[in-house]
This record gives sequence, C-alpha cells and structure tokens, in this order.
Amino acid sequence: MSVLLTGGAGFIGSHTAVVLIESGYDVVVLDNFSNSKPSVIGRIEQITGKPCPCEEADLSDGPLVDAVFRRHDFDAVVHFAGFKAVGESVEKPREYYENNLIGTLRLIEAMTRRGVKRMIFSSSATVYRADNPVPYYEDFPLGATNPYGWTKVMIERILCDVCAADPGWGAALLRYFNPIGAHPSGRIGEDPNGIPNNLLPYVSKVAGGELPLLHIFGDDYDTPDGTGVRDYIHVMDLARGHLLALGYMRDRRGAFPFNLGTGKGYSVREVVAAFEKVCGRALPVRVDPRRPGDLPSVYANADRARKELGFTARLGLDEMCADAWRWQKRREEADGATAE
Ligand code: UFG
Repeated sequence: MSVLLTGGAGFIGSHTAVVLIESGYDVVVLDNFSNSKPSVIGRIEQITGKPCPCEEADLSDGPLVDAVFRRHDFDAVVHFAGFKAVGESVEKPREYYENNLIGTLRLIEAMTRRGVKRMIFSSSATVYRADNPVPYYEDFPLGATNPYGWTKVMIERILCDVCAADPGWGAALLRYFNPIGAHPSGRIGEDPNGIPNNLLPYVSKVAGGELPLLHIFGDDYDTPDGTGVRDYIHVMDLARGHLLALGYMRDRRGAFPFNLGTGKGYSVREVVAAFEKVCGRALPVRVDPRRPGDLPSVYANADRARKELGFTARLGLDEMCADAWRWQKRREEADGATAE
C-alpha cells in the first residue's frame, strides 16, 4: 500500500512516516520545508533502515502536485501540511486561510484526478467550540477562536462535503489533543523555529539551558493546582493512530471524526514535575498572567477511537518527557556537529 504524507517532514508527519514504513507501507513524503528540515528524511531512513522518497513541493503549486501524483500510484494520503501557530494566525489570517485551505483544495483536486479517494486528515482538538464541557466528544458543536482553528474546522467541512458528493470518497478526521515527546531513538522530534509557543518545547529548552525560565501562564484557573490542564499524548502513540486510521478507512466511505488523546489531563505543574524527574534538576519557573484565549482544561473522551480504531495510548507522561529530553540533548549535539 502506497501512501503520500504531505508535511511528512514535520513533527507528527516524520513520526508517522517511521511507523508506517516499519509496518510495511510504501511512504512518499511531500514537503516544502517551510517549517522543517530536509535532514529529517535521512533520519527517518536511518531509523527504519529503508528508503523514504521525498518530493519537495508546495501544495499550492497545482501542476507540481499533479506531477507528483503521476509519478506515483498512491492508495491514500495522510495530510499534515499546514501552518499551525495559533498566535501567528491571528496576526496573518489571510496567509493561514490561503495556505491551509488552498493547499488542501489543490490536494483534493490532484487526488480526485488520479482516483485517489482516501484521506487521513490532521485535525485538532481546537475544532471544539470553547464553551463545550470537558471531556470533548466527537459530536460536540464545532467552532474556533482563531484563524488557525477555523482552517481546521473548514477543512473538516470541505472533506465532509467531498465525501457526501462522491460516494467513493473516505476521510478520517483525526482531532489531535496535545502531541509531545519524540522518537525513542532521539533522532527525530519537535523542532520549532524561534522561541516555542507550546509548553513542552519551551520546557525542553529551559531544561537544556537555551531559555532562562518557564513562564507559567496563570495559576488561578479552576483546576486542582490552578494551572491549565491538557491531554498530552505521546507522538509515537499518535503516529500509531494514523496507522490504525489507514486500516479503518481501507473499505469505508464517508467522513469519520476521531479524538486522538489519552482521555486524561495533566496540569502545567504536573508536566514540569515530570520533566524535572527525567532531567534531574529543578526548572526555574515564574507565574505570569493567563495567556489570552487559553482554556482552563481540555481533554478528550477517547472511547470512539478505542472502540472503532482499536486505539489506546500506551505511553504515559514520564515516557513523553523522557523522550522529549533525549531528543533535546541529541538535537543540541547534532546542531553543534553539523550546524544545519
Ligand atoms: N503554557 C505555559 N507556558 C508556556 C506555554 C504553555 O504555562 O510557555 C500552558 C498553557 O497556558 C496551557 C498549557 O501550557 O495551559 C498547554 O499550552 P500549549 O501552548 O502547549 O498547548 P495549547 O493547548 O494551548 O494548544 C495546543 C496546540 C494548538 C491546538 C490546541 C488544541 O498548540 O495548535 O492544542 O487544543 F490548537
């Protein structure tokens, strides 16, 4: 079975590439490397011991994407490619709508022209309206609070409509909660440009001495210790979720949303404590005001993915932090050695 991974050099894409290749899939990565590095491809090949062909292309370039589809005979597409920074999307809404929506529409066109009608889409827990109670169920009302989130809601809608219009089409809409961790080899992991926005990359850089201290955004929420609670999921578990979704969609038509989370929330302070345990030292923190737009508590009801896909997260917070820390240390060594 041959699968195209758009954005396959990114954080979740690269881990999914490893899991799919190791499960016997023929994987082709398509990436424009706008927020990832070409060297990731070589690392995927090192880990798996198998080739990982890569096409450098931007999804907005219709003829180039068509050419990629003519060169290969794909059975399905896993669509990760897209801009993903919440704050940046508020400052540059046009760029977010253009990149994420137009890219997806070009991709659907190219797929349809070649008769490829299976997509696994990288959606997000951010598609749930902010006034929903926790835990989130797949049939809760959708909505978003920023342009990035709206692109996810809109792409889900587009895929539902494409599936309704063409009974040959099938799409899994995978709503990720908070993916963290790294491959246990320490060879691939999350590598955001500039100062990270998300908790784990920030904590890793504080532990590695690249940043002086962690700012905890509010400790006066109505949560057990007052700090924000999220459903962190190990990226290797998440990658396995894509493998299961590909199997599920093989003989199904229609659009199927799934939460991919653990169903359990951890607070910022719990994450910091788990990281301190693996890096062996206390991390400097300072409590700052709440970050605008943040919710007190977000976690999944994970029943549907368990029942339908057979998906249950296997790795806990300690493993997530241990793998993130190994990656942080190895990345520092690699950056120092190759200055890539
Ligand atoms: N936090 C801090 N300090 C930091 C960064 C984060 O205290 O430096 C706190 C936040 O306030 C929040 C928690 O850590 O309580 C997690 O924050 P993240 O930024 O890591 O993650 P979010 O839950 O805010 O957002 C993530 C993704 C989004 C996605 C959303 C889905 O980044 O892309 O989950 O719910 F839309």
